[in-house]
Order: sequence, then structure tokens, then C-alpha cells
Amino acid sequence: MKVLLFGASGNIGLAIAQELLSRGHSVTGVTRRGAIEGLVHERFTAVAGDATDPATVADLAVSHDAVASAVGPKVGRESDRDTIVGATEALIAGLREAGVTRLVTIGGAGSLEAAPGRRVIDDPDFPQLWRANAEAQIEALGLYREVDDLEWTFISPAAHIGPGERTGVFRIGGDQLLTDSAGKSEITYADYAVAFVDELGRNTAIRRRITVAY
Ligand SMILES: NC(=O)c1ccc[n+]([C@@H]2O[C@H](COP(=O)([O-])OP(=O)(O)OC[C@H]3O[C@@H](n4cnc5c(N)ncnc54)[C@H](OP(=O)(O)O)[C@@H]3O)[C@@H](O)[C@H]2O)c1
Repeated sequence: MKVLLFGASGNIGLAIAQELLSRGHSVTGVTRRGAIEGLVHERFTAVAGDATDPATVADLAVSHDAVASAVGPKVGRESDRDTIVGATEALIAGLREAGVTRLVTIGGAGSLEAAPGRRVIDDPDFPQLWRANAEAQIEALGLYREVDDLEWTFISPAAHIGPGERTGVFRIGGDQLLTDSAGKSEITYADYAVAFVDELGRNTAIRRRITVAY
């Protein structure tokens, strides 16, 4: 596939780009900055573009089979809502304009159910630094859920995502937070990327939110 990936220089976006390339796909990586140091590959092209601009999304998407997004704000320094909700609206409008239907996007864990009727974000100990980001991701999920003419998938990471091994062994869930036997909800960037690229290729969660954790 030829995949257009927004946010390709980020912690998660870079892992997704590397996973796509390792499986033989071609990737156009979009960030506002443009250049992505450390990612040199014959099937990778870096371009500058703003994911919150529908015309940019449409122009870039036309020549691709699918669009992926791992866009996020600089936490604590940029508006979470402007970036996340802005990109969601622009991706929906831009894909419609371009006639590209497949979209897989990073989501947040805040909207996952930790217990019946209680979301992760409802925990009083939910980190203040991440609250606005989580609220923006909840709004984004609500926008996607109103879309029935695109083949979107919203993939929430585990509660904790960070650097570490690519094991290829994890669980996929739906709207409930996945925790291990010690009560932890974790995934590495590399394994999240495996799940993300699996979904892009298999199309098993069309117009659904899924989550990935050990
Ligand atoms: N457990 C959880 O729920 C959880 C945990 C971690 C992350 N997340 C979600 O995943 C998001 C991404 O996380 P991350 O750690 O990978 O973020 P990151 O390292 O800050 O990467 C963000 C990426 O988005 C790009 N970007 C930002 N605004 C853009 C725009 N308007 N147009 C195009 N590209 C843009 C950035 O490049 P430029 O700045 O050059 O544009 C960068 O490539 C977070 O914001 C959060 O919503 C959820």
C-alpha cells in the first residue's frame, strides 16, 4: 500500500512509519516541520503539511491507498483541542474531498471504560497534564462515530505507552481498558505500531474503536 501518515516524526508516528516500511509499504510522512532526521528509506518521503488544514489533507491524500494519523500537540505547550479535534475535522473533510476512504488514527485511552460506567478519565488521579489531550481525543472519537461514509478505525493505546521491545504479542480489545494480571495497562510504541499496521492491512475494525495492550 501507499500510505499517507500524518505525525510521522512523533513517538508513535515514527514507530508506525518504521513498521509500515518493514512490511514493504510506501510511506509519505507528513509533519509541520517536514524533514524527519534518522528516517532514510527508499520507500519513505517526508513532506511538510498541516493536518488541521482540510485542503492540505485532500491534496496529499489523492495519490494514496490509505491515510494514517498519529498527530498530537506538544503536550502542555500547544492546544490539545486545536491539534486533535482540528486534525479530526480536517481528515474527515479532506478524505471525502480526495475520495480516499480508509483512515486509521491514534486515539486516547481516556474514553476507555475502566469499570462499568466509569471511564479512565473519570479517575480522580488521572494526570492533569494529560486531561485536555484526553478530552480532545474523546471529542474526536465522538466526531468519528458520526461518520458512516469513511472506513475509519480509532486505535486507543493502553493507559501507558512508551519505548520498549517489539514483541508482536498483545491483546486487542474494544471499548474496555485492557489490564494485565497485575492490573497494569501497558504497550510499547513498537507493539502499538504492529497492531496499527495489522489493522490497516486487515480492515477488521471498520468504523470502530479498538484498543491494544499486553
Ligand atoms: N495512553 C494514551 O491515551 C496516549 C498516550 C500517548 C499518546 N496518546 C495520543 O497520541 C498522540 C501522539 O502522541 P506522541 O507521543 O506520538 O506525540 P509526539 O511525539 O508529540 O508527536 C506528534 C506528531 O504530530 C506532528 N504534528 C503535530 N501537529 C501537527 C499538525 N498540525 N500537522 C501535521 N503534523 C502535526 C508532530 O510533528 P510537527 O510538530 O513537526 O508537526 C509529530 O510528528 C498524543 O497527543 C495523544 O493524543 C495517547
